[in-house]
Amino acid sequence: MHLNEDTTGRITRATRKLYNEHADEYAVTTATLDQFPGLDRDLDRFAVALPAGPVLDLGCGVGRDTEYLGCRGLVVVAGDVSERMLELTRSRCAPAGVVQLDLLDLPFPGAVFAGVWACASVLHVPRGDHRRSFTEMHRVLRPGGRAAISLQAGKFEGWKDGKRLACARWFSQRVPESVEAELRSVGFASTTVHRSSRDTWFIATGHKG
Ligand SMILES: C[S@@+](CC[C@H](N)C(=O)[O-])C[C@H]1O[C@@H](n2cnc3c(N)ncnc32)[C@H](O)[C@@H]1O
Repeated sequence: MHLNEDTTGRITRATRKLYNEHADEYAVTTATLDQFPGLDRDLDRFAVALPAGPVLDLGCGVGRDTEYLGCRGLVVVAGDVSERMLELTRSRCAPAGVVQLDLLDLPFPGAVFAGVWACASVLHVPRGDHRRSFTEMHRVLRPGGRAAISLQAGKFEGWKDGKRLACARWFSQRVPESVEAELRSVGFASTTVHRSSRDTWFIATGHKG
């Protein structure tokens, strides 16, 4: 995995370091679905709409959603920039694949995945780079595939303390309409947005025609 020396590369390097150092602490508040009421329904909505094929859990964290989607019978590849997060995911549910990656530069050929689930991961790169991440998702999806991206609504961008970790992380909040416009601009044939189970969050879905 190569990370550039530019601002985004520095942010991603810092993010990787802090998730490596705090992964076990993060697991305490995020490892189970009952800590996110309604997220199981969000995952079900994503899973039922997919064509046949493997799914990428992009920024898998401690593997909560990798495990859930796998239990639904999907073949799931877990990807994350943090080695420790990948270890935790591998140990809990033995996914089909565990890959260290940068969500801005996916190490997969085109048209391999039926779905990409990106829950609370894209927001850790600068807003100006989100389009690049959406382009990568579109590239790795098969025709008919879907990307579902959970983001925090708002206009803030920068380092701040989040609810679940006692250290500052980079957050890029988004306006839902602009995310839909970006998804269409990189080639998604149609998009939807719905409010997620989590108060200020929404899930933007792009459908590759
Ligand atoms: C807020 S956690 C969310 C984890 C999990 N999806 C969940 O919902 O619990 C963000 C995750 O994204 C990963 N991440 C952050 N920046 C990334 C990047 N540029 N490429 C890949 N993963 C990244 C972090 O290591 C972390 O595991």
